[in-house]
Amino acid sequence: MTDLTAVDKVLQTHNHDKSMLVAILQDAQEQYRYLPKEVLTQISIKLEVPMSEIYQVVTFYKAFSLKPRGKHICSICMGTACHVRGAPLILETVKKHLDVEPGQNTKNMQFTLNTVNCVGACAVGPVVQVDNTLYGNLTSMKSIQLLKKFEKD
Ligand code: FES
Repeated sequence: MTDLTAVDKVLQTHNHDKSMLVAILQDAQEQYRYLPKEVLTQISIKLEVPMSEIYQVVTFYKAFSLKPRGKHICSICMGTACHVRGAPLILETVKKHLDVEPGQNTKNMQFTLNTVNCVGACAVGPVVQVDNTLYGNLTSMKSIQLLKKFEKD
């Protein structure tokens, strides 16, 4: 069962203000790394907002996840500019290194691997995003070195 203490705190921080729904969901996701059903139910009850409305918001914004995610989100850009500069090799190397396919979490829940299409930094492609930071001019070897920095924290 999900501990609801963290979401209760988030709701309190936002004074149970339903106009802050998106911010509340963002903060709740930061606490749980995703949005478990029990957390959404708690938000629905406490804000008196129907679950259907909450699901509409959660499914509209790509940043929200209804599935458990790793501690770090590693997104490999597969847009055209990155693709021609070697993104497929980076993807293969990272998949092997983490032993996952895109959309999956590593067994230790340290990473979730994703692919994305253009993150707007084509000039420095190939690009990998880890959490909220973009890393450019990568090679497959540099990508592994980058991930190693996130393996222990
Ligand atoms: S194609 Fe990768 S940043 Fe644009």
